[in-house]
Amino acid sequence: MMMPIEQTDVPSGNIDLGSGNPSLELLPIEILEQASANYFSAGDRRTLQYGAERGNGYFLTALAEFLSTSLQFDVPTNVLLTTNGASAALDLLCTLYTKPGDLIFVEEPTYFLARRIFSDHQLQVETVALDKNGLDVEQLEEKVNRTKPKLIYTIPTFHNPASVTLAQERRERLVYLTQQYNFLIIADEVYQFLAYDTTPPKPLAAFTNQVEQVISINSFSKILAPGLRLGWIHAHPKVIKRLAECGLLDSGGGLNPFASGIVYYLIQAGDLAENIAKLKGVYQKRLAAMNKALDQYLPEAGYLIPHGGYYFWVRLPGLDTSQLRVSAQKYGIDFRPGTMFSSKMGLNEYLRFSFSYYNAPQIELGVKKLAECLHEGI
Ligand SMILES: Cc1ncc(COP(=O)(O)O)c(C=O)c1O
Repeated sequence: MMMPIEQTDVPSGNIDLGSGNPSLELLPIEILEQASANYFSAGDRRTLQYGAERGNGYFLTALAEFLSTSLQFDVPTNVLLTTNGASAALDLLCTLYTKPGDLIFVEEPTYFLARRIFSDHQLQVETVALDKNGLDVEQLEEKVNRTKPKLIYTIPTFHNPASVTLAQERRERLVYLTQQYNFLIIADEVYQFLAYDTTPPKPLAAFTNQVEQVISINSFSKILAPGLRLGWIHAHPKVIKRLAECGLLDSGGGLNPFASGIVYYLIQAGDLAENIAKLKGVYQKRLAAMNKALDQYLPEAGYLIPHGGYYFWVRLPGLDTSQLRVSAQKYGIDFRPGTMFSSKMGLNEYLRFSFSYYNAPQIELGVKKLAECLHEGI
């Protein structure tokens, strides 16, 4: 049998509306080929050496410039550290800032694979509610008053799976609370750049120059290609220094110098900004197609229309979506049931659809077939 190449293998003919992956045709092989050609023709063997702990200086300088332009605040290079993506950043932060048994807070719902990382580190997880304006900071305050968490993990912009964005006043309140009660914020901001019909508030990364407790993690997975395993941490220079001094980066010579050496050329050529603009155009159309299909085929579904990111977080009142999934899978349709995103086995009536993987006609067909399965009891 062939060894798999991709993480998720959707049997041909099936439609997995739950997959949070970009579709293959959106992975920009051409601009990476060009950047790689530039990288190799430069012939700089230092980029194949053990790298600097914080990452390749050319790459970090180009990334800092890109971020300053696109986020519209000054991002100096000393607030950035190269990682193998947001997952690796989260794992590294858990290693350095927590010990088994520590209490941490996550949103309910939260990104299900972050929950796996917290479980690897044997952390105790408490939840804080979300509403249409993001994390409920009042509930957070009430909870931090009673128990002292080590950190809170939050996805402030275009949340996975709920798609909501934390309102500006709440961002300020959250940052105030971390200073007042001295816990860390890990802000997972991987969807920040995928805004379709709105300008989200500045990322929590914008607070890191004043506040050491805020650490932002980000990634090229959603704006270029997950297979690069490349991302960055944006934090106060003191935090960056501490991270750069850890054993992993010292022994390994930084994270991913090879991919970052190539992506440097891609950013310099203006191709990152162009790729993001292209993705936004494609995803916006897919979002509209999913919204239309839900309206047409699943009128009982309750959801907020996303303004960015990848996901529709759908409520089907009175239904257990884990049970629905069993029959949907037999019918060749899949999605992610709400319980996967719950840290207390709740959210049974919810499911997550993604509009990143399929084109508009496939999205329509997938929603239509799921509705048939549901309405006709197939
Ligand atoms: C909120 C969130 N964080 C992190 C990741 C994974 O990021 P990376 O590929 O950079 O590890 C994802 C991917 O789905 C995600 O949705």
